[in-house]
Amino acid sequence: HLKIAVIGGGSSYTPELVEGLIRYHEVFPVTELYLADIEQGAEKLRIIGELAQRMINASGKLITLYTTLDRREAIRDADFVATQIRVGMLDARSRDEKIPLSHQLIGQETTGAGGFAKALRTIPVILGICRDIEELAPNAFMINFTNPAGIITEAVSKYSKVKSVGLCNLPIGTKMQIAELYGVEQTRMFIEIVGINHLNWTTRVVLDGDDVTEDFMTRLGSIGQSSPANIPDLEWDAEFIHSVGALPCAYHRYYYMKEEMYGEMLEYYQATGKTRADDVKEVEAELFELYKQPELHEKPAQLEKRGGAYYSEAAVQLMKSIYNDTGDIQTVNVRNQGAIPCLPDDVSIEINCVIKSDGPHALGLVKPLPPQIRGLLQVVKSYEELTIEAAVKGDYASALQALTLHPLVGDERIAKAVLADILEQNADFLPQF
Ligand code: G6P
Ligand code: MN
Repeated sequence: HLKIAVIGGGSSYTPELVEGLIRYHEVFPVTELYLADIEQGAEKLRIIGELAQRMINASGKLITLYTTLDRREAIRDADFVATQIRVGMLDARSRDEKIPLSHQLIGQETTGAGGFAKALRTIPVILGICRDIEELAPNAFMINFTNPAGIITEAVSKYSKVKSVGLCNLPIGTKMQIAELYGVEQTRMFIEIVGINHLNWTTRVVLDGDDVTEDFMTRLGSIGQSSPANIPDLEWDAEFIHSVGALPCAYHRYYYMKEEMYGEMLEYYQATGKTRADDVKEVEAELFELYKQPELHEKPAQLEKRGGAYYSEAAVQLMKSIYNDTGDIQTVNVRNQGAIPCLPDDVSIEINCVIKSDGPHALGLVKPLPPQIRGLLQVVKSYEELTIEAAVKGDYASALQALTLHPLVGDERIAKAVLADILEQNADFLPQF
């Protein structure tokens, strides 16, 4: 008996996950898969459920699939609870992206003021799910994909007893790209990734036991350029990257190339009236039309238009390593507990971990982080801590400090104005305020 519950099972990403569960079924023999969603997502859940059933049938694997609008039924006695919810759905994301733009700020789903708004809406709902897990499946691992994933994971670890791990597809994507750059199997490489979710740096690269970081730094040009589908591929300046001394993640463009990224966004918005959320709505509509086709029994290629490539790879790898007590290394979001000494113990970090049956164990760093990494990391992490306080307690002062501190806002008056818009336009989703 191995039961997985997916909260937000009606997501267009779910076929990814189902494909991963089928592919790894020999080492991770799921017997029951519950896809749960809310009433407003019932139609999507039905379509996803039917496609998932066709995929399972075609695979011949013995997985029993259930769809339900009762998340408690899904959670009860689950071994793993995967959370991939979007409170307020894409309409709320669209507002998150547009409010900052109207204040001449970058409007992004997980970063800056947009990510802040998403955190305020999401944390109360996630903590509600945690209450159900504490009651109905106290030994389950929560695998959280819900964005902003680092902030959500930290809120769960600070305000619940649930064993949780936060996941993002970026680290696995980075590792794949680096292995490809060297033309070797990933198993021959050790790639140190450190930071927080959507703000990590690749600091060390080891090939067959030899530290090749120096060489890697000279080859960054090509790898630094590619980013997931949702982030503009603005070119990194080689000299600048070299001076960082590490490979920044795709989201760093919002910080290190703030003006240019803002310019790109604004131009696109002015020309089309759309932000990424509006594009994603179109992609989703297209995807669901495909998903409805009775002859479709695999994940369609069009899913690659979304930013979450390899998401199922990351999720299933993690669950199978916990299940099998594998002890391999994966980059996940966990409570710091001293792994990054310049951050508090109780915050979440994104770091390489040894994955055992009791969960991930963070690997220590070989060298302390240099000031150019430490500085930004501490500022954004402090923003995240304040955001969690604001979201849990409905505390206006923390909210105002969080936004003011964020490098993509950085001004008290603008922070106040943006916050007023966020609170007003999200009133239906913010019982804590
Ligand atoms: C990246 C991030 C994910 C995020 C996704 C957005 O892959 O790691 O956390 O959800 O992009 O993609 P979308 O297609 O929704 O814009
Ligand atoms: Mn992510």
